[in-house]
Amino acid sequence: MYLMRLTYYSSPSITMEHGGRTNALKDILAASRRNNADSGITGTLFFNDEYFAQVIEGDREQVSDSFIRISRDERHRNIIVLRAQSIHERLFNGWEMGFASITENTEMLYRKYSSYSEFKPSRMTADGLEALLVEMVHHTSVARKQTADQAGSRDISKVRKVKSL
Ligand SMILES: Cc1cc2nc3c(=O)[nH]c(=O)nc-3n(C[C@H](O)[C@H](O)[C@H](O)COP(=O)(O)O)c2cc1C
Repeated sequence: MYLMRLTYYSSPSITMEHGGRTNALKDILAASRRNNADSGITGTLFFNDEYFAQVIEGDREQVSDSFIRISRDERHRNIIVLRAQSIHERLFNGWEMGFASITENTEMLYRKYSSYSEFKPSRMTADGLEALLVEMVHHTSVARKQTADQAGSRDISKVRKVKSL
């Protein structure tokens, strides 16, 4: 298998026709996790009001097919591919599609990987964006775990793990 990683950002164009922001995001993550589990794709999705950013990695044919589908999705536009490259190892092993959301550490992380306290992907390198998403997804899952633990819930993380390839 030839592995590749593709990293892009885009502008959300979610309308009420898509059920609003929260529902659209839930639908996107659910479809991603379902399809990516089947095709051995791993990665992470970032979302804020202004941007999506996503890394998808896996077999290059699967990543290409998936990206072509994603790029036709009307829930976003202005897609900018930051990098598509062959890789030896995954960055998001085990994450069918992690979700990087805003936590109390987010601003500190933006500053660590760019010179801004806001998310400005157009001013970031591919290395910077990928490293930011790796850290964010781990912070998000730790924050989720803490919330779940506080709530006494067993449902620690909504992200199912897949066998590494
Ligand atoms: C920003 C964004 C990221 C997405 N990421 C993925 C993804 O990683 N995998 C995936 O299968 N679909 C992803 N989708 C959804 C696809 O565009 C498409 O709706 C979905 O794959 C259709 O799946 P279905 O035929 O199983 O319903 C994404 C959509 C958007 C807007």
